[in-house]
This record gives sequence, structure tokens and C-alpha cells, in this order.
Amino acid sequence: MKIAVIGAGYVGLVTAACLTEMGNRVVCVDAAAQKVAALKRGEMPIYEPGLEDIVVSALNAGLLDFTTSLESAVASADYVFIAVGTPMQDDGRCDTSAVLSVARALGQSLTDDAIVITKSTVPVGTGDQVESIIQERLRLRNAAFKVDVVSNPEFLKEGAAVADFMTPDRIIVGSDSQHAREMMGVLYAPYLRRNDRILYMGRREAEMTKYASNAMLAARISFMNEIAELCEHCDVDVEDVRLGMGADKRIGNAFLFPGAGYGGSCLPKDVRALIATGEDRALDMCILKSVDERNQAQKRVMFDKLYRYFDGQLEGKAIAVWGLAFKPGTDDIREAPALNLIEKLVEAGARIVAYDPVAMANTRRYFAKFPYAARVRFVDEPNAAVVGADALVVVTEWKRFRQPDFRSLKLAMRGRLIVDGRNLYHSGHLSRIGFDYRGVGRDN
Ligand code: UGA
Repeated sequence: MKIAVIGAGYVGLVTAACLTEMGNRVVCVDAAAQKVAALKRGEMPIYEPGLEDIVVSALNAGLLDFTTSLESAVASADYVFIAVGTPMQDDGRCDTSAVLSVARALGQSLTDDAIVITKSTVPVGTGDQVESIIQERLRLRNAAFKVDVVSNPEFLKEGAAVADFMTPDRIIVGSDSQHAREMMGVLYAPYLRRNDRILYMGRREAEMTKYASNAMLAARISFMNEIAELCEHCDVDVEDVRLGMGADKRIGNAFLFPGAGYGGSCLPKDVRALIATGEDRALDMCILKSVDERNQAQKRVMFDKLYRYFDGQLEGKAIAVWGLAFKPGTDDIREAPALNLIEKLVEAGARIVAYDPVAMANTRRYFAKFPYAARVRFVDEPNAAVVGADALVVVTEWKRFRQPDFRSLKLAMRGRLIVDGRNLYHSGHLSRIGFDYRGVGRDN
């Protein structure tokens, strides 16, 4: 099968690489020449476990190539994936301009029958627009071949994207065309040998499924964060409540972890885009608005705990921060709670010493533009961050933060406060060692 993937960002790159795993020939297109050159040498622009190995072996096997030329990549491709960015605009709406401009280029460049597949997360109706843009151009060219436009949203989790692609929970195929459905079934069959979880539906339904899924995940998190706050005021440990709730099969355990608030490039953006979709139809999406508001408030919770503990006297305090990525397994810091925390702490006069296994370079770049960049220091090792610290805040639950040697931490730190933004630790154990412990939803 010959496949073109437009966009070598997170989704495009994972899609392209994982498609080669089954023997497909894939050409991945990106406008950024430097990125394409680096990818040709097997150098990854992002950190994603397992991805580099697949890319390098596919390059060596001649199954994968990267180019800046959309035209050459899509010539005689059976499938063309659109996986370009759909960033959030200032008003929360999804910016689909890159998707639509790819559609225009495809209308001009396709040379044969093809299935065009939208992987980018796009608002309902975008697939219809892509289709009419392509068909319009094909008509102008008097092209006599058939192009189907399918919505096939991605459900990859950063940090586990390769596994999610190779053994998906479900694959959503949005198209009314029997031919396109069959072609998509053939493409994905090797990934569904253990259980056939392909769901066929209309294109608009597929687009909505993607947003509704992410919004549901976000809603569960915000719900639990609200319950966590209530627990703090009722002298209840939310961790027991979480386990008790999750044991109900109808509720399940996933996405019930309260914490520092959800971040990343998807949940915050998709919730806001769905709110905007409602607004465009004069609907008040009150649940989703609350989900978003709760999350913004949640990102202040760790700061508030520090502020209260130090009676507002944060000036000159040394705060160690463990974890900068929006979640473990990635170097992505988009909408990461650590950024808000650090900004607020520095504004209040604190100094930060931060550590993250892979996200420090991105964070350093992020803060470089701030006038107070010098107050945020990065160290190569978690224990180095706590030396002389008045408090330690754990923001991202990387495995290596889960069982530190608390006694050496105690000796290295100047103060005794640990703010556990992910409820990793046992408060009684830490108190016995001499720490003041603050989790989320377990104390005040
Ligand atoms: C999310 C979805 O989980 C994927 O299914 C989807 O494909 C992807 O968005 C996307 O649209 O591309 P991702 O953003 O990689 O994936 O990360 P998640 O694992 O969903 O985590 C999002 C945030 O929620 C993180 O900040 C995490 O710390 C937080 N979270 C997650 C909680 O605070 N509590 C939980 O119980 C779970």
C-alpha cells in the first residue's frame, strides 16, 4: 500500500511510523525543511517512547521517507492522511486553516483515485469542507478519478502513542462511502487481529466522537478535582474515595486521579473548541464551561498550598519542582500545570530549582523570554533540586519520583514541606520522617 501522511508533527509522525510496521510504504510531508532533513537522518523532533526505533528501522528498510514536497508524496498514493496542526485561536475556536490549505493542495496534486483521511482533530463539518474543496478543484482540472474523504480521528496518548496505534481500543471510521469503508478496513485489519474494534459511522459523527471523548475525559478529571477540594474541607482522603468509586464497573478506574489539573495539547483545546461549537449554534455548554473553569482553578491549587503554608511569605523561598512535562512519558509542556505554578511562584519572589527527565530543554526555552528567567534554574538530577530547598513540589508523576529516599531528602532540604500534586506519597509515612505533607484532596 502506498501512503502519504501530511504533517510530521506528533500525530503525523506516529501514524507514518506505525503504518510502516505492517510493511506499508509511507512518505511523510512537512513544510519545515530542517525538520525533514533531521527526520531523514533518523533524528526525532519529539520524545515519544519507541518511536525513534521504528522510524530508524523503517528508514533503513526503505519503507519510510520524508519530504517537503506534497505533490510528489501524494502522486499515486492510495491513502493520504491529513495530520497537520489545528491550534486553538484566541477565542477558543479551532483553527482549521492548515487542514483546508492541505485540501486545496490535494485538489491540485492528486493524480489518481485516493482515500483522503482527516486525522487532525477538527470541528464537525470540516470533513465536508475538505471534500468540497478537493472536489471543486478536481472538477476544474476535469479529473476523472474518485476521491473519498474520511474522518478517522486519532486516540493516541502522548507517552503511549506507539502502543495506542499498534493495539487500539477502537478505530473510528467516518464515511458514508462503502468503498472508503472497505479500504479503511483493509488498511487497519493488521492492527485489529485480536479483536475487531472498528466502528463505522458518518463523517460528522466521527468528528464529534473525537471531541466528545476528550471532553468526557476532561470532565472526569475536573469532577474529581472538585470532589478532592470538598474532601479537603470534610477531612476525607480522596484517594480512598477514588478507589471506592472506581471499583464500580460502570464508573471504572481510569481518569479519576485528582491532581494539578489537566494539560497537554488536546484536552484543554478540545474542551474549549466544543464550547465554541455550541456557542456557534446559540447553545450554552454549561457543563463543559465548568470543566474548563475548574481546570484553570486547579492549576492554582499547588501555589495556594505553598502560599498558605508560608503565610504569603514566598519572597526568597527556594522551591524545588519535580516534573515539568504535562504528564509522564513526554517532553511536551503545552498547558502544563508546572508552568503556571513556576510563573506564580517567581512573581511572588520565590526561586525555583527544577528537574524533569526529558522536558527541561523545552521549559528552559519557554522561560527564556521572561524577564525573571534567571530565577528558574534547572538541574540534572532530582536530588540536586532539593538541596537547600524550603519546599518540594511534585507536579508530574514520573516513575522515578514515586519512591525517593525521603530521609536523604529531609537532610538535603532546608524546609520540611512536600506538596504532592499527584498524591504519590503516604502522608503518615512522611509525617513520621518529619515532613509537612500536602496532597490534593487529602488535607488542607
Ligand atoms: C488525550 C487523550 O487521552 C487521548 O485519547 C487523545 O488521543 C489525545 O488527548 C488527543 O486528542 O490527541 P493526552 O493529551 O496525550 O491524550 O494525555 P492524557 O493521558 O489524556 O492526559 C491529559 C492530562 O490529564 C494530563 O495533564 C494528565 O496529567 C491529566 N490527568 C489524566 C489527570 O489529571 N487525571 C487523570 O486521572 C488522568
